[in-house]
Amino acid sequence: MYANSRSIQSAQETPHERLAEIVQRHRDHAFQRPIAAHARQAFERLKAHWHPSQPLVLDAGCGVGASSLQLAKAMPEAFVVGVDQSGHRLGRGKEGPLPGNLLLLRTDLVDFWRLMAHEGVHLHRHYLLYPNPWPKIGQVQRRWHAHPVFPFLLQLGGVLECRSNWKVYVEELAVAIAVLRGIHPAVERFEAGAPLTPFERKYRDSGQELYRLQVELDV
Ligand SMILES: C[S@@+](CC[C@H](N)C(=O)[O-])C[C@H]1O[C@@H](n2cnc3c(N)ncnc32)[C@H](O)[C@@H]1O
Repeated sequence: MYANSRSIQSAQETPHERLAEIVQRHRDHAFQRPIAAHARQAFERLKAHWHPSQPLVLDAGCGVGASSLQLAKAMPEAFVVGVDQSGHRLGRGKEGPLPGNLLLLRTDLVDFWRLMAHEGVHLHRHYLLYPNPWPKIGQVQRRWHAHPVFPFLLQLGGVLECRSNWKVYVEELAVAIAVLRGIHPAVERFEAGAPLTPFERKYRDSGQELYRLQVELDV
């Protein structure tokens, strides 16, 4: 059944009590997991397609890439890269050739974000659209803001936008940004008039509440 997606069930109703401590630890300790060869290859593909004079937009965890395609059409002056680890998802749901300012890459964001940061890449816009919520309390460190990669993600700058059907996820992201950058972004509820992604459409059509945060990181 399509429009019967259940809202997130979690024992956690507010930001995790240890979140600030976890984020500070990740800021203060080097994240040393080696970077996989496939991520380096993906990054080389980006460099082969994107000219640094073009504003760069990253659709992180782009799924089938429907949002990446919409963003590329809406921002013809920019170059959009959609990244997802799932080749199954990336291969689906697109008809015809992709626009010249769009590249979809299959790789692990944990490595790709670090490569971008190491190479001093600056993003114009950065989208985290419906990231996996990992709603169990013990899964907190799988959420992007509590993952060791998060400081790298913020280094990329630009305007970061996250959308989720779980308010706590977006509230935690705001806390983590406040800890690392001293900025306090607002979390807002919004109506998805024209859905940007398949998950957004599914949640909207199931009557779920949607939340988002937008923050300018170049301040
Ligand atoms: C809930 S789906 C949302 C997909 C899409 N943004 C949407 O809204 O329709 C989360 C996506 O994040 C991707 N993902 C999760 N962890 C990832 C990682 N470490 N590297 C790359 N993609 C990842 C998954 O493969 C999945 O496609």
